[in-house]
This record gives sequence, structure tokens and C-alpha cells, in this order.
Amino acid sequence: MHALSTFLLCALPLTAFAGQSHRGARYYYERKLHGTRSSSGSTCTKPPSTNSTYKLADLYQGSNFFEGWNFFTGSDPTHGNVEFVSQKDAQSQGLAVVNSDNTTVIGVDDKSTVPKGGNRNSVRISSKKSYSSGLFIADFGAMPAGCGIWPAWWSAGPNWPTSGEVDVVEGINNQKNNQYTLHSGSSNGTCTLDKNATEDFTSNVLGTQCQSSNGDDSGCGFSDPDPTSFGQGFNNVSGGVYAHLWNNEGIKMWHFARSKIPSDITAKKPNPTSWPTPAAAWSSKTCDISNHFFDHALTIDTTVCGDWAGDAYASSGCPGTCSDLVADPKNFVDAKWKINYIAVYQ
Ligand SMILES: *[C@@H]1O[C@H](CO)[C@@H](O)[C@H](O)[C@H]1NC(C)=O
Ligand SMILES: *[C@@H]1O[C@H](CO)[C@@H](O)[C@H](O)[C@H]1NC(C)=O
Ligand SMILES: *[C@@H]1O[C@H](CO)[C@@H](O)[C@H](O)[C@H]1NC(C)=O
Ligand SMILES: *[C@@H]1O[C@H](CO)[C@@H](O)[C@H](O)[C@H]1NC(C)=O
Ligand SMILES: *[C@@H]1O[C@H](CO)[C@@H](O)[C@H](O)[C@H]1NC(C)=O
Repeated sequence: MHALSTFLLCALPLTAFAGQSHRGARYYYERKLHGTRSSSGSTCTKPPSTNSTYKLADLYQGSNFFEGWNFFTGSDPTHGNVEFVSQKDAQSQGLAVVNSDNTTVIGVDDKSTVPKGGNRNSVRISSKKSYSSGLFIADFGAMPAGCGIWPAWWSAGPNWPTSGEVDVVEGINNQKNNQYTLHSGSSNGTCTLDKNATEDFTSNVLGTQCQSSNGDDSGCGFSDPDPTSFGQGFNNVSGGVYAHLWNNEGIKMWHFARSKIPSDITAKKPNPTSWPTPAAAWSSKTCDISNHFFDHALTIDTTVCGDWAGDAYASSGCPGTCSDLVADPKNFVDAKWKINYIAVYQ
């Protein structure tokens, strides 16, 4: 009665087609990039897998959350209207908080009035540990959403773009679709996304050349047709999980809206072989993953305006100008990441 009754209830994902152009970028030292993806729109109720071969290596959650992260306090490499503040300042200003329910909230100042075109305090954190492979599960209750806002959950290594950049969640303004993107260097052969491998992913391809440089940093990525994959649409369904599997065979990314999170993820015994088709996938057949992506710090940040959200603002349907928007704290009440946990399995 138990496992059997819930075993075969996985509907196939709907492969919606959005046909939008790509644009954007997440810059590490000097650059930006973009990407989108769709959530895997399957309805799945599977029993917790007993076949997980992954072991929990790091769990970032609750009262110890910030012990595993550094607060970046340099000027925003993407030229946003933000001042990234220290841990001490973020905590005293309520911009980095662990709540009694174990959720961690980081975000943008929504109390102060700043000059038009000025900087608003925000938070950018990177993991103290670095990773060159793994299975990463990020459960977010909400993400920053709204006009002028550019949130990202991503990772990168030293000497951008030589050790690569992996963008799991990224988008701008009132965008409805998440972008998934890789950026690579040029030292170890070409790195491309094989857009012919359509059975391997559910999102729409934005760009196929992963190699990036200052001035040419779109990368190779996807736009997720699922409107619960990003921004207000993500928040409307109480968020969900982003999972990515990074190994010698490639990189795969999944989005699960809250009601569709596989039970093996909730049980902390993740078994990606039991999950539906990923939203995004890059294969080692067209990109030597381990030689292009290594030593990554995980990063969560929110910037405002800047190289992507600011440049695209006028065509976004958002009111006024981005520099006017930054002045009013009311525009930032939803500019917050609510992190349930981030788990890394090896
Ligand atoms: C575990 O693996 C065995 C053997 O491959 C398979 O028969 C079984 O269905 C799997 N169980 C789950 C829960 O995936
Ligand atoms: C809170 O997080 C800690 C650290 O991961 C964990 O041990 C504990 O079970 C969590 N508590 C709840 C209520 O989720
Ligand atoms: C990849 O590039 C780095 C940096 O140029 C180099 O040290 C390394 O040997 C290369 N690896 C392979 C497999 O070509
Ligand atoms: C994808 O298909 C096109 C058209 O058949 C072909 O020219 C191209 O080489 C294929 N790309 C890859 C990476 O296989
Ligand atoms: C989110 O929910 C609100 C309130 O129901 C609705 O007005 C809005 O259109 C939704 N936004 C998205 C992107 O789903």
C-alpha cells in the first residue's frame, strides 16, 4: 500500500516553447552573463529513493548558516547601484538574518531613502569552501523580485573566465523565466552547448558558445519556459528547489516548484536518476567540463540596475528609470532571498 501507491505518478514535463532571445550575463570580475531555463514541469510524487549514492558533504542552514560564507564588500563588478556591506553591517541593518524557523534571509535595504542614481545597501556572499563537482540543492522560499532587481545564485572560480562560471538562477527586472548559463575560458578547447540534444533538457536554448570574455560574455545558456522558475512567479508558489549536478559527464540543472519537489530531495537522499528531464544540460561531449569548471565558490547576491538590469530597464516595461527607482525603499520590499537550506552532496 505504501510505496506502490505513490510510485508511478510522474507526469511528463510539458515542453512549452517561449522563443525568446537571450541576453544578459553574470559577471564575475568584470563581466555579466545571462541564461534562462524552465522548470521541469512534471508532477511527481515518488517515494524517497533508497538508491541515492550521494553523501551529504555540506549543509548550510539555520543558526550556523553564515559561518560558511564570506561577505563580499568590494564595489559591484557588474556596476549596480549597490553597496555590498560587511557581515557586521548586514546583520545590524537586518539585511542578513537567521530566523527562528531556520530560514536565512538576505537582501536589499528596504528602509532607507537614497539619492536618485545612488547606491542602496545589499548583500553578496560566497562560500568559504570551493567545489569542482558535486550535487547542489538550493531550497529557496523566495527570491528577490521586481523592477531594477538582478538576483543570482551562481558559482565561479579564480581568473574569470579560465575556471568558468555556472549560473543556476539569474534574471532581471520583471522577467518571468529563469536563465541557466555557463561561461568558460578558452584554454582547454572549445566549450559549447549542443542544442541538438533536445531530449536532454526542457528549456529553450539562448546561446551555444560558452567561451566568454570581457565584452563578449553571453555564454551558453537556456531560458526556462516555466513562469514559476523566476521572480514573482517563483515567489507566488512559495519558491522551490534548484538542483544541479556537476561531474565529468556534464552539468545538469533542475527546477522544482515547491509542490513538485521529489521526496528523495526532501529526505536528503537525492537520486537524480529518478528525476524528470533537467531544465538545462551541457554534456562533456561538447565541453570538457572538468578542465573548464573548477575551484568554484558558491555565490548568492542581489544587485540593482547595473550592466544588465539597468541596460535592459528601458525595454522591460518597468516604470520611469532605474536610477529613479533606486531612490525609493518601497521598491525593495520584495528584494530578498529566503533560503531554507543549501546542501552539497558528493
Ligand atoms: C533501486 O535500485 C533497484 C535496482 O536497480 C531498483 O530495482 C529499485 O526500483 C530502485 N529503487 C528506487 C526507489 O529507485
Ligand atoms: C535547523 O537547522 C539545523 C542545522 O542544519 C538542523 O539540524 C535542524 O534540524 C533544523 N531545524 C529545523 C526545525 O528545521
Ligand atoms: C587546461 O588549461 C590550463 C590553463 O591553461 C592548463 O594548465 C591545463 O594543462 C589544461 N588542461 C588540459 C587538459 O589541457
Ligand atoms: C546539430 O545539427 C546540425 C544540423 O544537422 C549540425 O550541422 C551540427 O553539427 C549539430 N551540432 C552538434 C553539436 O552535433
Ligand atoms: C503572483 O500573484 C499575484 C497575486 O495573486 C498576481 O497578481 C501576479 O500576477 C502573480 N505573478 C506571477 C508572475 O505569477
